[in-house]
Amino acid sequence: RPGAEAWVPPAADVTQLRDAVQGCRGCELWRDATQAVFGEGTASARLMLVGEQPGDREDRDGEPFVGPAGRVLDDALAEAGIARDEVYLTNAVKHFRFEERGKRRIHRRPDVGNITACRPWLEAEFAAVLPAAIVCLGATAARSVLGRPVKIGEERGHPLDGAQAPVIVTIHPSAILRARDTADRDAARAGLVADLRRAREAAD
Ligand code: URA
Ligand code: SF4
Repeated sequence: RPGAEAWVPPAADVTQLRDAVQGCRGCELWRDATQAVFGEGTASARLMLVGEQPGDREDRDGEPFVGPAGRVLDDALAEAGIARDEVYLTNAVKHFRFEERGKRRIHRRPDVGNITACRPWLEAEFAAVLPAAIVCLGATAARSVLGRPVKIGEERGHPLDGAQAPVIVTIHPSAILRARDTADRDAARAGLVADLRRAREAAD
């Protein structure tokens, strides 16, 4: 696992980075994935959102957050008064990590080695976009952006000091999909929306 550093072009804009990422061999995840999925959205966005890694749908389509978790995120953004096309949306890890079970591809969380290997891409996105605030969707994103383990429940919803910009950590939208019942789901959704509102204020 050499890490992505050698594949990241210096002083590149988002379009150049998106072209270059397909050649990355910084960790083993490129082997089984269909393609790398890079960040998308406004290249000068004030708000940058960081997810975990592409899912099954994203791996096939080549775009972040276009599957079930993306629909949940879209709804939460709308409710928080944030237009999806005014943010920059990316992931901590650019290739899909999964396990094959029969014909199904089951999501596996990226490990710390994958997160560290892929971090140079995220850093290059920070440098290209220069966001005024960064949202971490879940623990993987928080680990990558803050460079330390983060307990979402303890640190969510208020701006933390980040190296690039204030960082707001919140739950991953897939936690809403996994909620046990309607009450849990509604509470989780309301929490995500509240955190996104705080992030919007932090970016203004
Ligand atoms: N989950 C993520 O974290 N990112 C995506 O792009 C899709 C699902
Ligand atoms: Fe490179 Fe990141 Fe893909 Fe690993 S996951 S090969 S570091 S782009």
